[in-house]
Amino acid sequence: MRPDNPPGSGADCAPDPNPETPETRTLPARAAFPFPGLSSVDTKLYGRRRGRPIRVHKTALLENLLPQLRFDLPAAGMLDPVTLFPRPVDDVWLEVGFGSGEHLAEQAAQHPTIGMIGCEPFLNGVASLLQHIDERALTTIRVYPDDARPVLDALPDRSIGRCFVLFADPWPKKRHHDRRFIGPANLARLARVLKPGAELRLASDDRSLLAWMFDHSWRHPDFEWLARGASDWRQRPTDWPPSRYEQKAIEAGRTPVFLRFRRRS
Ligand SMILES: C[S@@+](CC[C@H](N)C(=O)[O-])C[C@H]1O[C@@H](n2cnc3c(N)ncnc32)[C@H](O)[C@@H]1O
Repeated sequence: MRPDNPPGSGADCAPDPNPETPETRTLPARAAFPFPGLSSVDTKLYGRRRGRPIRVHKTALLENLLPQLRFDLPAAGMLDPVTLFPRPVDDVWLEVGFGSGEHLAEQAAQHPTIGMIGCEPFLNGVASLLQHIDERALTTIRVYPDDARPVLDALPDRSIGRCFVLFADPWPKKRHHDRRFIGPANLARLARVLKPGAELRLASDDRSLLAWMFDHSWRHPDFEWLARGASDWRQRPTDWPPSRYEQKAIEAGRTPVFLRFRRRS
C-alpha cells in the first residue's frame, strides 16, 4: 500500500534551496574525449564531463590505471559481466553515477567476492575513484567512464544482483524532468537487467526528485518498496556507505532519504 506521507512528499525533507544543478551541456566533440572506442548512445547525455583541472597524480592514474580497469562494450552481442573480472565473483553489482567513488570503493572493500561495475561520465569523478582504488588496493571494480545507459542495454537479462543510483542529478526545472535518471525508460532497463530479488537502491536529498523517483519506482510493476516503517527511509542502512553528495547534503542542512526497492520475481 502506498504510504500516507511517502518520501519526498514534504513531510520530512526540507526543500533544497540551492540544488546541485549540472550545467546543461551536450557531449563534447569526440576528439576532445580521451577514450576512443567507447560506444556512443543516440540519447543525449546531460551534465558535466569535466570540472576543475585534474591534478598530476590523478592524471597519471587516468593514464595508467584506468586502461587496466575500464571496459568497452561489445560491438555485437551482450556483455557478460562476470568476464570483466580476473577472478570468479559471486555476483555483480552496478553503481550508476558513482561521483567521486567513495560509496563504490567502500562497497568493494566490504564485499570482496562481488564484482563491482561503476559508470560515471564525469572524468574528475573517475579520477577520484581511481585514487580510492589505488590507495586501498581494490581489485574488484571495473569502470565505464561514460553514460550508464549503453551498459544497461548491453547487459544480459537478470545479470546484476544490486544497483545503486545515489543522489542523481535533480534537474529541478519541469521542462528538464525527463532528464532525471530514474524514470520510465531507465526503470525498464533496470528491471530487465536486475535478477529477481535484486535490490535497487536510490537516495536523494532533493524533495522534488524524491517524489518523482518514488512515484515512478513505486508504480512500476517489477519493483517492490522494501520499507516497513519511516526509519527504513530516514536512516541509511548500516551496509550502505555514505557518498560525497550525502555528506554535502547533511552539511548544507538538507535531509537525505534512502529508498530500497526489490526486483520482483
Ligand atoms: C549529483 S552527482 C552524485 C554522485 C554520487 N552518486 C554521490 O552520491 O556522491 C550525480 C552523478 O551522476 C552522474 N550521471 C548523470 N547521468 C549519468 C548517466 N547517464 N550515467 C552515469 N552517470 C551519470 C553525474 O555525472 C554525476 O556525477
